[in-house]
Amino acid sequence: MTESAPSKADLVAAARAAAQRRGLRPVAAGEGARGFEGHPDWRDSQRMKQVGALIGVASPFFRLHGGHAGAMTRIGGREVVNFASYDYCGLNADPRVAEAAKAAIDLYGVSPSGSRLVAGCRPVHDALEEALARHYEAEAALCFVSGHSTNVSTIAQVMGEGDLILHDALCHNSILVGVKLSGAARRSFPHNDMAALETLLAENRGLYRNALIVTEGLFSMDGDVPPLAALVALKRRFGCWLMVDEAHALGCVGSRGRGSFEATGITPGDVDIWMGTLSKTLAATGGYIAGSSVLIELLRGYAAGFVYSVALAPALAAAAERALQLLAAESERVARLQANAAAFLAAARAAGLETGAAGPYGIVPVLVGDSLLAAKLSERLLARDINVMPVMFPAVPMQGARLRFFLSALHKAAQIEMAVAVTAEELDGLRRDGFGSTIPPALLDL
Ligand SMILES: Cc1ncc(COP(=O)(O)O)c(C=O)c1O
Repeated sequence: MTESAPSKADLVAAARAAAQRRGLRPVAAGEGARGFEGHPDWRDSQRMKQVGALIGVASPFFRLHGGHAGAMTRIGGREVVNFASYDYCGLNADPRVAEAAKAAIDLYGVSPSGSRLVAGCRPVHDALEEALARHYEAEAALCFVSGHSTNVSTIAQVMGEGDLILHDALCHNSILVGVKLSGAARRSFPHNDMAALETLLAENRGLYRNALIVTEGLFSMDGDVPPLAALVALKRRFGCWLMVDEAHALGCVGSRGRGSFEATGITPGDVDIWMGTLSKTLAATGGYIAGSSVLIELLRGYAAGFVYSVALAPALAAAAERALQLLAAESERVARLQANAAAFLAAARAAGLETGAAGPYGIVPVLVGDSLLAAKLSERLLARDINVMPVMFPAVPMQGARLRFFLSALHKAAQIEMAVAVTAEELDGLRRDGFGSTIPPALLDL
């Protein structure tokens, strides 16, 4: 028996009920559109602003910088030490990368003017994709205009209804959005917990057609790495595909910064979908996938963020390709980055700061717990010429607020020592004043 399609009245009733569950009053016919002030996220953001104003914490976000993002930056007319950029290997201001971008602008213009299907490809696109495919010892690679849309479009294209996606609980938003859009069933496993993943696979694998396991090569909030060899063993045993997001791992992980496969000794071909971004070590913007030629052909023809979105700008493709060459040729950059991260970690631990599971790569969180305490600490550090961003709820769990330090090969030992000492001193001072441990009475009325 076929089910009849829901009537228009059923659909309207379901939409009303959903709106009511979210605390929204449905608009009556003829009432006209209201503004966006009723949106729950708007209300939350306003509440945060009120709380900040009451306890004297300015928003740490959208700071205006007067120079390129690197180990130093200029904020409010002052030179400050910068721990809030992804310039892991110090290539962002490298004149050779800038030269490559400028030459591509002269040859091909600033804008690619449309999707590659329609407006065509430029040799710099092919050169970058060939270089990335060689890097991952893969048959082919494909570049997208943004890293976020690379994950969204790839996962949503490859997976669908009747499939299963298992992802690490700490995976990036772009992975979660792709999973949601795909329509596949989703199971999240606790961070790096292979026993839990194995149980989920044993219970669920047989119920679905295709299964994909997704993880990150270097976790962006915690600065630790996954047990890649164990993931490869599980994907083989249960007949799944494995996707690894190398957004932060490229340049940071492995003795030459080649990424997770170099650090763990797995064969790159053991991973079915290598994903990465051009916006971090490669000093550009955009994202990429490397894998089999069938996978790449599938994405070239159908991935929404590739087919229906503009091509990567030629200047960015050229810059990223040059940065990838420099990464391979100048692996001392990776050694300096990893030495800086190790020095930061050692100094932070000696100063009694909590750095969680972070390893000596490029990301070190300093865990403080309370979100407002993290924001206040960031403000105090800026006043002392250190730029570092807080990560607060809901980006991390309620009591998991932190300052996230991004290290660069260009940081000097003295800058690292100073940043750790000042962080420990200011955090201690704020805690002694009881900041973040009690709720000011005025907040209880909000
Ligand atoms: C793990 C991870 N994947 C994907 C992205 C999205 O990349 P992009 O910012 O280049 O769009 C990010 C962004 O920081 C990330 O951290």
